[in-house]
Amino acid sequence: MKMTNEQKYRLIGQAEPGELERLAEQAAACSWRQRYHIQPHAGLLNDPNGFVWHNGEYHLFYQWFPLGTDHGMKYWYHLTSPDLAHWNDAGIGLEPGGPYDSHGAYSGSAIVKDGTPHLLYTGNVRDADWTRHPYQCLASMDEDGRIVKRELPVIAEVPAGYTEHFRDPKVWKEGESYLCVIGAQRSDLTGAAVLYRSTDLLHWNFEGEIGTDLPSFGYMWECPDYFELGGAGVLLLCPQGLEPQGDGRRNVHQSGYLLGAPLNTATREFAHGEFAELDRGFDFYAPQTTEGPDGKRILIGWMGLPDLEYPTDEHGWAHCLTLPRELSVRNGRLIQRPAESLNALRGEERLFASKLRDERRSFENAEGTAYELSLTVGGLTDADKAGTVGIEFRVGGDERTVLSYDTRTGRVMLDRSASGVPVNPAYGTTRSCTLNPTDRIEFRLFVDVSSVEIFVGDGEEVFTARLFPDPSSTGIAFFANGGSADFEAAFRPYGEGAIPRGLPADLIDNGKVKS
Ligand code: FRU
Repeated sequence: MKMTNEQKYRLIGQAEPGELERLAEQAAACSWRQRYHIQPHAGLLNDPNGFVWHNGEYHLFYQWFPLGTDHGMKYWYHLTSPDLAHWNDAGIGLEPGGPYDSHGAYSGSAIVKDGTPHLLYTGNVRDADWTRHPYQCLASMDEDGRIVKRELPVIAEVPAGYTEHFRDPKVWKEGESYLCVIGAQRSDLTGAAVLYRSTDLLHWNFEGEIGTDLPSFGYMWECPDYFELGGAGVLLLCPQGLEPQGDGRRNVHQSGYLLGAPLNTATREFAHGEFAELDRGFDFYAPQTTEGPDGKRILIGWMGLPDLEYPTDEHGWAHCLTLPRELSVRNGRLIQRPAESLNALRGEERLFASKLRDERRSFENAEGTAYELSLTVGGLTDADKAGTVGIEFRVGGDERTVLSYDTRTGRVMLDRSASGVPVNPAYGTTRSCTLNPTDRIEFRLFVDVSSVEIFVGDGEEVFTARLFPDPSSTGIAFFANGGSADFEAAFRPYGEGAIPRGLPADLIDNGKVKS
């Protein structure tokens, strides 16, 4: 049931008696709760925000609407982690409802200045005519981890030439300057990313647009991010309103990157290659990166998309974050590998090794709803090679999710048409991309109760998808059609307990984190 605006823009403190508890109970009883992904206790999660390393731990926040599964009054919910695999609940980070964020503390980022994490975010305000007014606001974290907002916004105006769709500041430091990139819509209703500069995070100068080769590329760019890696400059962006193109751009909105020479922050010129999607699957959006203590660039995304409905909506919760991915650059492209520390979650390994010829074979003794599965398929240049090879997982009754690889064309396809309860089938039930055909191909699948993330090859491509199967669909099988191929697989169950799962009532006292 859709909420009215009045219901959607309530603060936690305005919940009806028992409302939060009912929602949490409903969510806790849902059979699609994840085991090792970050998910809300109840309500709706969207973008990762404020991702930063400070004093021996990562801080990560997510956009959260506590009172339902609509996109309503957004909070920042706070988590910390020493290693990106085990997370601690830190309760509410930012609470909206002030004069400059009366209708939500929207997305933003964090940076450590003078030993203190500072959060730069978009305060969303709607006036009496429901016209949107974005303010870029600043807050800082005190020694107890509490977030203190500054009273006045640090960027109060949208510059001339842009509409009220102006949000999601991502901040970084260059020499003595702080820079931030903001997602924008030009007055001619095309998307762009603009650059601001500051010396103190308080006073920001509008420098102008980042000069890309994409003057007309969708109607809005959300959640931009800029960083340098391996000598390259990388701009992440979420363009809205692009048409599908071959196998690509099949989701309602896209999330991808431009990679090129480092951005010239004085002229704002950015010489880059083609827009490439970060993820080839169904459910991925609004990623944010940070640099870890070891210099690694880590990316986490939202495993969901705006403007869609999901099967958990009627169970009082929606969405989760992706696993953290370590980024690197190779041949002008981003390579994404699952964060190495996730290995800590692995249980006892079970192995499979066999040549399959025109057959489908179950992985005996390996089944489940939360695990990592690595598979190498070899012999793909032999004379009698199979035409198609692949994996079926979450198999049971009529259900199966199928990952297949066409050894002649190099096309990889994820098919969720028989995965369980359909998810936005209007956007199609398969996703594909094409690799250069090789003798052997590797896949690493991270299956959780209602999702899969598939790393292809050495992280050249990733497919992310929510899946809503029956809990009893736990089987795994391999297949080779029209010839033979060599299969080697390792199955590792993933344990419970990596992700906190307390009730909000434990942490929240009338809208404030309990001390
Ligand atoms: C992206 C987004 C951002 C915005 C936030 C609001 O999913 O629309 O542009 O800041 O979500 O929750």
